[in-house]
Amino acid sequence: MKRVVLLLALCVTALLSVWLVTESQKKSGVLEAIEARRSVRAYKDTPVEHEKLEFLAKCGVLAPSAMNKQEWEVRIVENKEWIDGATAAYLKAVEGTDKAKYMLTPTFKNIFRNGSAVIFVGAPDGLFSGENVGCLAQNIMLAATELGLGTCFLGSVQMMFAEPAMAEYLQSLGFSEGYKLRYALAVGYPDEAPEAKPRDMSKIKFVE
Ligand SMILES: Cc1cc2nc3c(=O)[nH]c(=O)nc-3n(C[C@H](O)[C@H](O)[C@H](O)COP(=O)(O)O)c2cc1C
Repeated sequence: MKRVVLLLALCVTALLSVWLVTESQKKSGVLEAIEARRSVRAYKDTPVEHEKLEFLAKCGVLAPSAMNKQEWEVRIVENKEWIDGATAAYLKAVEGTDKAKYMLTPTFKNIFRNGSAVIFVGAPDGLFSGENVGCLAQNIMLAATELGLGTCFLGSVQMMFAEPAMAEYLQSLGFSEGYKLRYALAVGYPDEAPEAKPRDMSKIKFVE
């Protein structure tokens, strides 16, 4: 009888160990996402599920912000007509210039690096404004990576949406008074798997 109890105890311990290892591996999701994230500029036509976009935006606003003021606004566009309309308006405005040449790659679908959805982020000018929205962006990009989605940070929308031809699109994002468009994040199911770009680890120094 004692042997049976001992054997059972051993089995339970072994199972518990396996479970603990599995659980601890699950918790490494963020670390895996940090290593796996890339700027993706080619996406499948498959739209991103509405619930996933909602989830990503929530991950964004879970980011820290100075004094928890949360001075940011997030606008999600999943409407292909809007994306294609903004693309057509911008291309028409910059037709024949270098700005258009730089955009029009053979796999070009839209001005948002071909994302099937776009998350726009606005914030007022002010102390720590860039830091706040930077934290928000990284939360979204890492969460997206974990969900198997690609993203691309698009600072260039600041310039694009400054074109007079884009005014109606900028307005339709509905940012509050005093809030400026800071960046957009292209989101979609990746249709490319870029290599990791090199990083300069000599930028890190321990101070004695
Ligand atoms: C502030 C900022 C602005 C960026 N703007 C653009 C952009 O307008 N268009 C673009 O294709 N990529 C843009 N990127 C993406 C960078 O080019 C990319 O992060 C960098 O080359 C490193 O590659 P990785 O993201 O794959 O590691 C931007 C990234 C940051 C952080």
